[in-house]
Order: sequence, then C-alpha cells, then structure tokens
Amino acid sequence: MSANNALHIAVLAGDGIGPEVMAPALDILRKVEVNSDLRFRFTEAPAGANHYRETGKSMPESTVRLCEEADAILLGACGLPSVRYPDNTEIAPQVELRFLFDLYAGVRPARLIPGVPSPIVGADQCGIDMVVIRESTEGLFASMGKGVVTDEDARETLVITRKTSERLFEFSFKLAERRKARGRPGQLTCVDKANVFRAFAFFRKMFDEAARHHPTVKADHLYVDACSLMLVKRPWDFDVMVMENMFGDILSDLAAGLIGGMGMAPSADIGDRYAVFQPCHGTAPDIMGQGKANPTAMILSVAMMLDWLADKHGLENAAEAGERIEQAVDKAYADGIKPFELGGKNGTADIAKAVMAAV
Ligand SMILES: NC(=O)c1ccc[n+]([C@@H]2O[C@H](COP(=O)([O-])OP(=O)(O)OC[C@H]3O[C@@H](n4cnc5c(N)ncnc54)[C@H](O)[C@@H]3O)[C@@H](O)[C@H]2O)c1
Repeated sequence: MSANNALHIAVLAGDGIGPEVMAPALDILRKVEVNSDLRFRFTEAPAGANHYRETGKSMPESTVRLCEEADAILLGACGLPSVRYPDNTEIAPQVELRFLFDLYAGVRPARLIPGVPSPIVGADQCGIDMVVIRESTEGLFASMGKGVVTDEDARETLVITRKTSERLFEFSFKLAERRKARGRPGQLTCVDKANVFRAFAFFRKMFDEAARHHPTVKADHLYVDACSLMLVKRPWDFDVMVMENMFGDILSDLAAGLIGGMGMAPSADIGDRYAVFQPCHGTAPDIMGQGKANPTAMILSVAMMLDWLADKHGLENAAEAGERIEQAVDKAYADGIKPFELGGKNGTADIAKAVMAAV
C-alpha cells in the first residue's frame, strides 16, 4: 500500500476481449472509491500475444517488476491462437505469472446466480455453489516448454511435490472452513486418479494427512472420471474440490459451463504473497471487437480481489465492497440482464451499466 493508503493495482488487460472486460471492471472499482474510503492506484502494463508480435516477448521485465510491487494484479486474458512461438505453443503470460510468483492455488468459484439458466436440469431449484481449486504451478504443467518431441514420440512429465501439495491442501481446507463459517457445508473433495498413477496415490496420501488437522471439514475423494459424471448429474452435491493442474484446467471450464458460460466464471491464482485475479475465460477471438463479451466474470474477479486484500491487510471495508459488487451482479441478473452467451441480447455495455447502477 502506498503512503496515501491507496491500494496499488497492476492492470494487465491483455489481448482480444481482455481490454473489453477490464474497462468496466475498473469503472466499478472507481465507483467503489466514491462510495467508500477505499482508494486505488491503477498502473496498466503490457502482456500477451499482441505484445509478443511487436517485441518478441510475452511481457517486458517492467511488467514483471510492476506485478512484484503492486498490492494485487488484475489480468484480462492473454493469447491469440494465430500468434505462436516457433514450437507452435501459444503466448501465455498468465501461466508464466503463476510460476514466477509461485501462485499455487487456482481458485475457481462456480456459483449459479439466481435467474441465470443452467444447462443442468434441477439446478434452478437445488442451486450450484462450488469452488474448484486447481494446483497451478506443477502437475502436468510443470512440463511446459520442456516436453521432448521427436518424429516418433512425445513425452511430457507430471510433477507432484510435497512442498506444494501441503500448502495447497492447507489453503483448500482453510477455504472450506471459511465457507462453512458462511453457511456452506464445509466439504472438501480430493479429485485424482489414484487408482492408476503413483503420483496421484501420493497426492491423495498427503491430502489425507492434511485432513487429520481439519476435523471440522468433511474430507472425501473422487476419481476424476467419476467426478466429471457427478458434476453434470448432481453439481449441487459439491462444495470445495482440490485437484492437480491439468484436471483443474479441464474441470473448471466444465464448472463454468454449469453456471451459464465462460463469461460468468471468475478466478484467482493465489500464492503465499502474490495473487492474480482474472476471469476463467480466454481472449474469445470469435467475439472480440463486437461488444458481445460478458464482463461478469471479470467483475466478480474484482470482488474476489477485494476479499483477498481484505484478508491480507485486515481491511473490513474491502470485504464489504467485494460483497456489494457480488450483490450488484445478482441484482443486475435478477432485473433481467441476459448476455449474448446465454442467448440474450445484452452486450458488454448493457451488463456493465446494470451492475454499475446497482453497486
Ligand atoms: N487466462 C487466459 O488468459 C486464457 C485462458 C484460456 C484461454 N486463453 C487464450 O484465449 C484464446 C482463446 O481460447 P479459447 O477459445 O479456447 O477459450 P475462450 O475462453 O477464449 O473462449 C471459449 C468460448 O467461450 C466464449 N467466451 C469466452 N469468454 C467469454 C465472455 N466473457 N463472454 C462471452 N463469451 C465468452 C468464446 O466466445 C468462445 O466461444 C487462446 O489463445 C487461448 O490460449 C487465455
């Protein structure tokens, strides 16, 4: 925090619809400033495919330094399928930041906002309110950029370490406890493939060790394949889930589908010291520049940022502001907002305006 108590926010809008959803999210924070004694200082910085196209780098050193100095990092979305490294992989500073800042806990809440249709029969009555915690620095992604490919075969190596897993499980149990204190069931499910792979048997063993220190949380396990089935059949049975990076990459998108689409799903990548807040979605090149992007996920990510800052700095007003933003989003949908991705006619500007009015 700077001398005038302003929270310094690094803003990496990125590519595609990233800047389109970032603009209304910042407007909401400016409105929070008007309605509270919270103050923000925003510093924008480049990262992503467009920056790579211009400079040959995914992000400059100055962006990394800014992220290091800021109180929190907001990211729109980065990468474009048409811009690639010579090895044919994409420009992904959002993934690099996780490694650089040791952001091991990818927190991906999926809450069905009342009034938003879910593709799952019964969800409107039973509700959906779960969190996928995706380990974000190792698992199969530890192999990023290191895979060995010949003309005959290709190999990528999955890594699970005790150091990261123990911190991940501690974080996950604490989150389940916090949610229990707020009226949720307080249940944590370890999602793995421990029936086949030794690495996942190791992952599960460490989960069970951690569970012994958190007796008030109901700890259980599911294999990832069975979990995929249960998520579609009875998503309301889940509270918090924790899993390896690649499984979390896939299941968190599935969870976003359950609550209406990518534009509804916020996220945070959290470490012991730093955190990046961004929507789950990517740069959506199919709709960029058309005013159709749903900014809800980005706005809800800002609410998550305020909650994290509140916890970190003991700022009760930041927690209240985060809650106010969530309630404003709920009100906008209760009043009939329907984004394009849900078959409606409301674009970025309409949704932003409705939420702004309710904050
Ligand atoms: N965190 C990130 O920065 C991130 C995450 C995922 C993908 N990407 C990158 O984004 C690019 C596109 O990837 P993709 O197509 O697999 O995933 P995507 O999330 O960009 O899009 C998937 C689908 O969801 C829709 N969608 C996404 N966000 C939306 C929103 N806010 N409102 C309405 N509809 C929305 C898109 O139109 C598309 O049909 C790729 O270059 C990929 O590498 C970046």
